[in-house]
Amino acid sequence: MATRMFSAAFVLILVSVTIALPSDFKLPKLKEGGKHWALLVAGSNGWYNYRHQADICHAYQIIRSHGIPPEQIIVMMYDDIANNEENPNQGEIINQPDGENVYKGVAIDYRGKDVNPTTFLDVLQGNEENVKGIGTGRVIKSQSNDNLFVNFVDHGAPGLIAFPTKFLHAVDLNIALDHMHDNNQYHQLLFYLETCESGSMFSSLLRKDYNILAMTAANSTQSSYACYFDKKLGTFLGDLFSVNWMQNSDQGNLNSETIDEQFHIVRKETNRSHVMEFGDLTMNQLMLSTFLGSEQDNHMVLDAPNPNLDAVPSEDVDITIERNLYNLAKEENNQEEMKERSAKIAAIMMKREKTDNTIKQIVSLVAGDRNFKEQNNMLMGENDLFKHDCYRPMVEYLKDSCVDLDLPSNRYSLKHLRIIVNLCERPYSNDAIMDAIDKVCQPDIMLV
Ligand SMILES: *[C@@H]1O[C@H](CO)[C@@H](O)[C@H](O)[C@H]1NC(C)=O
Ligand SMILES: *[C@@H]1O[C@H](CO)[C@@H](O)[C@H](O)[C@H]1NC(C)=O
Repeated sequence: MATRMFSAAFVLILVSVTIALPSDFKLPKLKEGGKHWALLVAGSNGWYNYRHQADICHAYQIIRSHGIPPEQIIVMMYDDIANNEENPNQGEIINQPDGENVYKGVAIDYRGKDVNPTTFLDVLQGNEENVKGIGTGRVIKSQSNDNLFVNFVDHGAPGLIAFPTKFLHAVDLNIALDHMHDNNQYHQLLFYLETCESGSMFSSLLRKDYNILAMTAANSTQSSYACYFDKKLGTFLGDLFSVNWMQNSDQGNLNSETIDEQFHIVRKETNRSHVMEFGDLTMNQLMLSTFLGSEQDNHMVLDAPNPNLDAVPSEDVDITIERNLYNLAKEENNQEEMKERSAKIAAIMMKREKTDNTIKQIVSLVAGDRNFKEQNNMLMGENDLFKHDCYRPMVEYLKDSCVDLDLPSNRYSLKHLRIIVNLCERPYSNDAIMDAIDKVCQPDIMLV
């Protein structure tokens, strides 16, 4: 009897609570007592790559303005852009034409050479001991109730993302995520990745049952795209996927828009590559505020031009910049500048030709110099990467042996790593591939 009365009272309370709820009531954003954490990383340096650090600064502004406190955000960026000698607006970075300064207030934890894969993995996994004395020494300290947002913007290639002088391999990233899962270091994790071939970092690697959802700018075989060439700055201001999700976040209400809604909007707008999702797709039903912060953002959002109009694949950024600057100089009849720019264009073209030749020679040695059909398959194929045991050491060997390829910073060379995927998937032996690399790139050593 008492129990029944109790239940009746309980139901009554429930009903009245339900009635009292405002109509836009949403489920709690975080688990009881949970916090937001965020790790923002731009993995490149140099003026040609302005856009990567601009994207990351913009992401910082978004999560700060939605209430994630600086103590729960960690930023890794080379920090050579705002005060770069090429920057006419000293101390500022923008992420859209005539945009606001997104560099303002960004608290950088790791800069310069501290932006590397080892430190990144230590920060991500909360290995405080390992980063003592490096940068601010701060790490992600998320616990089992906390939600973590990771945003990484940079160059990539099949199965890897690039840092200024080192690669982060897909296998290592996924091992780190597994480790975090096993140690209860998050409740849910959202990973936004803007790199070329970004799908290959997660495809057939990221588990579906680990409360991790990854969204990538491209699939496993495609470039990602730069956008917003700025005449005055002489570089691209953003990347297409990043600009699209961030402009959508700036304009929308993070408390009522789901990840799935953002995915579909951004996928439609990022029409040069396929925006993809991997991992736990049921997380798509969560509100964006679950990761980006749930406070209402009251700052004014500027209208932005369509970023698709001048988008170029990442590997063509350097040459497009030089061509655009050449054309501007031509309009102004600035002969000196025209000469300088055409010299740079010629140098880029020559370097590309050398890269093509190096790779062709390696393929010809591995596949047999008379086997043109096989050579062609290796050069043109777009195999998905499964043989990480071959690919990973071969890519490292190529980087260290063929220094003229400028790996990992040269995106044109990075694009050719697809051919190493093809060789590995064939499969040729590691020895055969290394032997060919030696013959082409270290002929002096071979003679000894
Ligand atoms: C990636 O997209 C390209 C272009 O649409 C397509 O040809 C290729 O099959 C796709 N690859 C994967 C793995 O989805
Ligand atoms: C992408 O969309 C833009 C408009 O936003 C359009 O101008 C362009 O042609 C589209 N590109 C492709 C490849 O569909």
